[in-house]
Amino acid sequence: MSESIYGEFSQYLPLILQQVTDHIIAANKKTKEETGFKLYEHFISRIKASDSMAEKCQRKGLEVCPQSALRSIRDSIGIRIVCGFVDDIYKTVSVIKAIPGVSIYNEKDYISKAKPNGYRSYHLILEMETDYPDVLGNARGSYFIEVQLRTIAQDSWASLEHQMKYKHDIKHPEMITKELKRCADELASCDLTMQTIRNLIQESSEDN
Ligand code: GTP
Ligand code: MG
Repeated sequence: MSESIYGEFSQYLPLILQQVTDHIIAANKKTKEETGFKLYEHFISRIKASDSMAEKCQRKGLEVCPQSALRSIRDSIGIRIVCGFVDDIYKTVSVIKAIPGVSIYNEKDYISKAKPNGYRSYHLILEMETDYPDVLGNARGSYFIEVQLRTIAQDSWASLEHQMKYKHDIKHPEMITKELKRCADELASCDLTMQTIRNLIQESSEDN
């Protein structure tokens, strides 16, 4: 087996991921206890496999080395959080921003401003100070973590659209692209209605 593109730093990536997910799980538990509502429905996480990272570096014209994989590319560690409602996404973003040692390297709100194809998600690139050395030679190294936050509807749309991207022999691609966009807008409208209904239910239970 050839050596990992992450080199000696490979061992730290799962430990850093675990540290961040522990915070997210604890915040969900606390919110549930305090309000009776979950912050999110579920999340998935992954360390990008060495060969996928090597392919991404090559595709972007970068040298295949730990420096490219850990500094120029910033999704070696990835978390996707799926929420029930749009408001919960923004609440979860605040929780993530408050994790000790975390600063925001980049933030993209594709929910308030969807991509032209209809893609909606909230993206954060976190830079986290850790107890582990990094590729720059720091003893308390910093590592990037990509976090994508989506509603259930946005998540199922993104998986469907992702499937299409990797099929090159597809029939009627223009029609499918157009239908996907229409579907994304309909789902966004349903997400808004769901949020409004939840707010109404919560307000009426506060009145009683
Ligand atoms: P990379 O080249 O992947 O590093 O990202 P970028 O600089 O273009 O950043 P962006 O935040 O736009 O995208 C990061 C990730 O979000 C992608 O790797 C996908 O996982 C997801 N994503 C972004 N746009 C789309 C989209 O149109 N459709 C789907 N299905 N996923 C998307
Ligand atoms: Mg990516």
